[in-house]
Amino acid sequence: MSARYLPQSFFPRYALAMALGAAGGLSGAKDVPLPQPLKASHVPAITREALDKARPVIATHAMVVSAQHYATQAGVEILKQGGNAIDAAVAVGFAEAVVHPCCGNIGGGGFMTIHLASGENLFLNFREKAPAKATPGMFLDAHGEVVPNRSTDSYLGVGVPGTVMGLNTALAKYGKLTLKQVIAPAIKLASEGYVLQQGDVNILNDSVEDFAKHPNVAAIFLNHGKPFVAGERLVQKNLAHTLEQIANGGSDAFYKGAIARAVVAASNANGGILSLRDFADYTAQWEEPIRCEYHGHTIISAPPPSSGGTTLCEIAQIIAPYPFAQWGYGSVEAVHTFAEAERRAFADRNTYLGDPAFVRNPIEQLLSSAHAAKLRATILPDKATPSAQITGNLGATEGDHTTHYSVIDSHGNAVAVTYTINFLFGTRQIAGDTGFFLNDEMDDFTSKPGVANAAGLVQGKVNQVEPGKRPLSSMTPTIVLRDGKPFLLTGSPGDATIISTTLQSIINIIDFGMNVQQAVNAPRMHQQWYPDEVWIEDGMLTPDARRRLEAMGYKFTKVHAMGADEAILIDPKTGRREGANDRRRPAGLAAGY
Ligand code: GLY
Repeated sequence: MSARYLPQSFFPRYALAMALGAAGGLSGAKDVPLPQPLKASHVPAITREALDKARPVIATHAMVVSAQHYATQAGVEILKQGGNAIDAAVAVGFAEAVVHPCCGNIGGGGFMTIHLASGENLFLNFREKAPAKATPGMFLDAHGEVVPNRSTDSYLGVGVPGTVMGLNTALAKYGKLTLKQVIAPAIKLASEGYVLQQGDVNILNDSVEDFAKHPNVAAIFLNHGKPFVAGERLVQKNLAHTLEQIANGGSDAFYKGAIARAVVAASNANGGILSLRDFADYTAQWEEPIRCEYHGHTIISAPPPSSGGTTLCEIAQIIAPYPFAQWGYGSVEAVHTFAEAERRAFADRNTYLGDPAFVRNPIEQLLSSAHAAKLRATILPDKATPSAQITGNLGATEGDHTTHYSVIDSHGNAVAVTYTINFLFGTRQIAGDTGFFLNDEMDDFTSKPGVANAAGLVQGKVNQVEPGKRPLSSMTPTIVLRDGKPFLLTGSPGDATIISTTLQSIINIIDFGMNVQQAVNAPRMHQQWYPDEVWIEDGMLTPDARRRLEAMGYKFTKVHAMGADEAILIDPKTGRREGANDRRRPAGLAAGY
């Protein structure tokens, strides 16, 4: 975003808050890890000087931003071969399965938000489905208590993967190139290997003990039994073979051929319930995206079975009348109002949302201006509301992990993809010699109403396990339009914090006047109803703002790194593409031409 788009009076307010924040940070914050699988503790806090200097990567025609530089380059290569944004997005999706194996995947699922140059907005749902033998009580013991780790560490945690069907569905409908062309960079990276950077190694090193538990995993992701170090080459011959089968046989190779048979055999041998029928029956679906307005912009985002777009829009509608631009980034007023809006919207999320194939999602009510006004009226100007006093209140009762990337081509086709295997490296298990990690997405279901899942989310019956159902997600691949044209592509990993990260990037730009690199680098906050605390990154609050907020009743929990927004902003006047790799993924890259 060039300086002329900065509301002139906004930037000083943001800069002042950062200056004060850098002076003290969260000196008294309790240093605890997030109650979710985000372990990127190696990301240093950003200084005010670094944030002030942050600038995006600029390109004239097209841009790709992802959490791994080889995946970004795969996307750029496909665009230069004449592919469009959908071709490039599919190429990045397959490439990330190789070079960002914690998160990029073919063993998981996700969502794709598309804005076509023709003006059409689309959404593709390739979320995993529960196997046919799944039951609501499958994660409970005989006493009705949740069995620790059953939904995360065992084959019972594996949902039927959707990524291959999703990528191939998008390509077949809107791509220009063949599957063989767009999957070629991924096959090359897997068969020839790639040199690991420190950012790659940091993520691999989070899971070395888990890799060592399974010989077929250790043979690939440990180097003769030892953790990989930067500069070494990671070769994945098994994965290359799996990708070649997909290149030759399309989705059938994955869902009806040897790959499905290998996963089902491993599931049977390890107490799982996946069947060949589950794979053969899997479908990816086009859905109507969620749409809302915020300060002159149109937000296009993820509908159920993601809670992302609905919750983001609900928060945006609650906060819209407040003077965030005047209050400034990190101000007591902005943090208080954002946290209270999140608390209320997350109570609704956790109470009412689930897979639309199984439950009715009251989207119209949740996103009505009357509902926003009703919730706004309960926000006290000078006091935090205890979460125990908030319930989903429509009347009727109850019903890092992930990765995001963005692509825009020279025609104005824009694609935002978030996909996941849930935990870093999913179950940390690979079926036989397939070479890819399997998801533990079943943990996103409600194992037991009122009991938190691994993301700390306390959810309701509406999201209980049922055969063929997709677990409620927080993934929020989002395209913000200005005057009907793509203005910002955004999204993030981070379970429920995804929604906060994505919306904060939007308001950092629209309200606080940051450029896109500053917007994704800026420290973040998150409130999700329960636990009744605000998670916060270092540098967001001044010591004084923190003291004042604590006096209002807030409890803060410091997190090392929240989310990773791989964003693109399109300058509305010049059309130039501004890419921002999130500093929290140092192996990532924004690149274009
Ligand atoms: N597994 C994270 C999400 O879908 O929200």
